[in-house]
Amino acid sequence: MLDAESSATGRPQGVAPLFFVANQSANLEPMKTVEWADGRVRMIDQTLLPGTEKFIELDTIPEVAEAIKVMRVRGAPAIGVTAALGLALAAVSSAATTTDELLRHVREAAAVLGATRPTAVNLFWGINRMLAVANANAGKTPDEFKTALVTEAVAIQEEDIARNTRLGEYGASLIDDGDSVLTHCNAGALACAGFGTAVGVITAAWNQGKKVHVYVDETRPLLQGARLTSWELTKSGIPMTLITDNMAGYFMQQGRIDKVVVGADRIAANGDAANKIGTYSVAVLAQAHNIPFYVAAPSSTVDPTIPDGSHIIIEERAEHEVTEIRGKRIAPAGVRVANPAFDVTPNRLIAAIITEVGVVEAPYAKNLAAALGK
Ligand code: MRU
Repeated sequence: MLDAESSATGRPQGVAPLFFVANQSANLEPMKTVEWADGRVRMIDQTLLPGTEKFIELDTIPEVAEAIKVMRVRGAPAIGVTAALGLALAAVSSAATTTDELLRHVREAAAVLGATRPTAVNLFWGINRMLAVANANAGKTPDEFKTALVTEAVAIQEEDIARNTRLGEYGASLIDDGDSVLTHCNAGALACAGFGTAVGVITAAWNQGKKVHVYVDETRPLLQGARLTSWELTKSGIPMTLITDNMAGYFMQQGRIDKVVVGADRIAANGDAANKIGTYSVAVLAQAHNIPFYVAAPSSTVDPTIPDGSHIIIEERAEHEVTEIRGKRIAPAGVRVANPAFDVTPNRLIAAIITEVGVVEAPYAKNLAAALGK
């Protein structure tokens, strides 16, 4: 279904937007959310978006840990890449003169970064991949050790973009010309090293010439939809409408939404998927309206070590995120607050999981293992 809004703002023929940020000479360049830059970790500070587009460069582990905790960088794949780059930073910035000492510094940094946010498995996936390389190079010279860690971290960063680009192509096959697609939170380029997962699917469909329209849930409490997904889609020129979280049911009832595509922070072996708080409600609404609900996530988001979603640790964040909006208090002092950052959507509500190795359908325990074991 094509909305009035998207007909009115239909994409000019032949224009295939990716995700660009204008540089100072007004040329358009693909944006990298987080990257290795001459011995530092460079990232766009997402807490300042959409008002200010500022890149920051971090050169200590406490700075990297703080950036993940306060969500200067956020989104499951992006924090996995950041942790990997952080461990490369731990090696190159260390004053250690022996490889044994370097290895110890990297392990200490891994413990610090691993304690930042508990839910997205990509963080631990990135850390474990780096620790495996560190352990494998324990017998090398300090310089060789450092080079091996930087090479691995940069590979993780580049693979993330390649993986999401493939995922986008698979997912685009599920999107029809004229579809209105609802998404929750931000699973775009900002949530990854680049390109995005759920937004990557929409972008790939758009790049194939399909006219799509996106309904963007604002995503309280931290407004990732309003601040970040809207910013990305506006940059890309993909038609969208921003709605508050409690409007999704209304638009589904009105027949205005054809599909839902969201990202994930951790997918259990049976396909249960943790994503931003509110995702479960959207999935229940989608089922009530016979709307397909898709989860788009790279293999680094699948945690085969847990049988189902009940094993996923849900991050509980600070009260002020609920009692304030962008620093302005909206609730009386002293109110009791709960702030779980994620919820788990049971596999029975998921029409398919879109990965970089293909579109996986139920039964997920069997089909995810078969697809990702490849
Ligand atoms: O708390 P956040 O902003 O890190 O939560 C992010 C999400 O829930 C995303 O939807 C998820 O990480 C997928 S990102 C490709």
